[in-house]
Amino acid sequence: MSQESFETGFMESKILEIKNNAAAEINNAKTLKELDEVKNKYLSRSSELNNLKKGLKDIDPAMRPKIGALTNEVSKEIECLIKEKNDVFYFEELNQKLVLEKIDPTLDGTYIKKGRVHTLTATINEIVEIFEHLGFSLIENKYSPEVEVEKYNFDLLNTPKEHPARDVQDTYYALNAKHVVLRSQTSNSQVRQMENSKPPIRIISPGRVYRNESVSARKNNLFHQIEGLCVDKNIRFTDLKGTLNEFIRLYFGSSRPTRFRNSFFPFTEPSAEVDVQCIMCGGKGCPTCSGTGWLEILGSGMVDPNVLKGVGIDPNVYSGFAFGMGVERLTMLKYAIDDIRLFFNNDERFLKQF
Ligand code: DAH
Repeated sequence: MSQESFETGFMESKILEIKNNAAAEINNAKTLKELDEVKNKYLSRSSELNNLKKGLKDIDPAMRPKIGALTNEVSKEIECLIKEKNDVFYFEELNQKLVLEKIDPTLDGTYIKKGRVHTLTATINEIVEIFEHLGFSLIENKYSPEVEVEKYNFDLLNTPKEHPARDVQDTYYALNAKHVVLRSQTSNSQVRQMENSKPPIRIISPGRVYRNESVSARKNNLFHQIEGLCVDKNIRFTDLKGTLNEFIRLYFGSSRPTRFRNSFFPFTEPSAEVDVQCIMCGGKGCPTCSGTGWLEILGSGMVDPNVLKGVGIDPNVYSGFAFGMGVERLTMLKYAIDDIRLFFNNDERFLKQF
């Protein structure tokens, strides 16, 4: 054997040995990290194969192409084996993920609670919408404060100093500020509106009111009212009646019997209360309607000339009507709810029914 062929034969067998070792180590690699180490060992710049390539210049030029080609071929093969094994790891990992993240469409979903508008707010919105349809506008908040002075809650509403509604048993007074009350009615907003604007006026004013009552199924010390006011030339009682009848028809539907009843309020003359037939007994008489068959839903009347005068509107030129209705009462009547406290207890089982 010549010196060259011996040298070439040695190199060839060395290269094949490297290839076999690499193949075995690739095969044995258990993790990506181990595979990386093998890759580094056999394919990096300082690998045995690379060193052999660098040594090519020292061997017989005639042999160089053969050995050169063999080194290249073997490093390609090793690269290929590594890639294959890498794919194996990749798909194993993917399969594991798919198993872990498998979706079971038969499992219960996560229930996401939806927020909702409170029943009373819904009634207010509905009523305001009806009156907007009839040509009324929502009052500006600044004319409808809940903390009020007696002047707007009582004086300008033509309510005498000795009127029982002013009694601390009916109205909440501020302890440290004389004449300051939590408003007992939304009627304060009508005088504030009239004081700050000129007729024609047609406003609707919803809000909270407070009364010093003991709480029961029929009474709460906080409740809601909606006030309405219309002032212009030639406003008559028939306008009041027509407007309220239309409201009742739109809110309750035409089938609910209603009646206007003579009444008294210090700020209206004449005054009327409106009743609807009791929803609990259908008019036969029951504890809810105290045996009368009727339930009162609102107070109303023609604005008293004294009230117009008090806010600088000439009662010889202008006239008006006003009304105030209880939001809780109207909601209870529509849905046959028999306890006002349900609105304020925040029991979702009740609230989510509407
Ligand atoms: N403020 C009255 C109350 O709370 C309701 C009322 C009656 C309002 C007649 C009015 C009205 O505007 O004209 O009982």
